Amino acid sequence: MNGPRVIVYGMGRIGCRIARYAMDKGAQVVAGYVRSAESRDAIARDFPGLELCLPDRPLASHRADILLIAHSGLYCEMFDVARRGALAGLDVITLSDEGFDPFMLSENMEASQILHHLFVKAGRTMLSVGVQDALWYAQPLGLAMGAQRIIEMRCTCISDRGLFGHAASADLPLGLTPAQFRTAGLASGQAQPGVLAIGLRPLIHALDLSIRHCDLRNEPLIAEQDFSLPDGRQITAGMTCGIVEHVTYHTEEGPRIGGQFSKGYFPAGTATYNEWVLHGEPDLSLRIDGLRGDVMVAATVVNRMLDVIKAAPGMARVDQIAPGRHVSRLRHVTHLAAS
Ligand SMILES: NC(=O)c1ccc[n+]([C@@H]2O[C@H](COP(=O)([O-])OP(=O)(O)OC[C@H]3O[C@@H](n4cnc5c(N)ncnc54)[C@H](OP(=O)(O)O)[C@@H]3O)[C@@H](O)[C@H]2O)c1
Repeated sequence: MNGPRVIVYGMGRIGCRIARYAMDKGAQVVAGYVRSAESRDAIARDFPGLELCLPDRPLASHRADILLIAHSGLYCEMFDVARRGALAGLDVITLSDEGFDPFMLSENMEASQILHHLFVKAGRTMLSVGVQDALWYAQPLGLAMGAQRIIEMRCTCISDRGLFGHAASADLPLGLTPAQFRTAGLASGQAQPGVLAIGLRPLIHALDLSIRHCDLRNEPLIAEQDFSLPDGRQITAGMTCGIVEHVTYHTEEGPRIGGQFSKGYFPAGTATYNEWVLHGEPDLSLRIDGLRGDVMVAATVVNRMLDVIKAAPGMARVDQIAPGRHVSRLRHVTHLAAS
């Protein structure tokens, strides 16, 4: 039986990988959306036979099951595409960092409520995933399963933005002195919740903990040597090549959940990894080396597709749907509302 019918919206570095991985596992990728005729011609060479559409083409015209939004992780940029997906009766997965906990940030509340209402009405689901789902949810949840008691769980994550395209690194502070970083309001005290602060929340929910308060602080990620970025720009030693986000959630029940996330560009050969250390009974740790964020984000989207199609209607967090797992083949599944 054929797998689900899929639309990939945004055929950039990650979107193309998602399309390839979905096809490899038996999905029918029925359309890819691009921004311009020039992008369409370039992508057509790698995806012969795939229908490549410009943004004004109605999503409903493809009779798809699920829409994978990969052109932007920013709420303001993905909102309208997600809304169109709901109106077209599609399940939707986005790569939005903010969407990993859609009702967390007050500035997204109204948009999330509108989307939730539309998805419930359509009997479809919207979920946001990314490396967060694997590194900061499924893996620490598995580690915690073996603990009798948790006092603290902290992760250290070093992620190389050089693996991604322009859209994934547009917000990185590059080439600033530490003083300029602070003057720009990027450091401690003025920190807005970042990727890690949002990304840890489904884990806290899944551990059945209630957040009392959260300490947030950012530091500049400083280059230790001169090096070139993939697009030819130069990073100078002593200037910023990214940002380090520090997060600690204090919970009513006692356990602290937190970590630090270094997101930036690194010279070739830098060790990239994600490590969890659980302090409790017993002390445990788990480390993933050679972090391939580009592979992991696309694999996660594809591994989550069937869970989203089967999930209850509305805006979901990863802890509100089936446990994440590896999927070797994308089989045809029916929507919860239709079954
Ligand atoms: N959560 C995670 O773990 C995670 C990890 C990595 C990336 N991401 C998110 O994934 C997104 C994509 O990353 P990437 O590395 O693939 O970036 P990218 O290579 O720059 O890809 C973005 C693509 O979207 C296209 N696009 C932009 N606006 C569009 C529109 N309105 N309609 C149709 N296509 C449009 C761009 O077209 P042009 O080429 O014509 O500009 C480009 O091909 C980022 O925004 C990032 O936030 C999330």
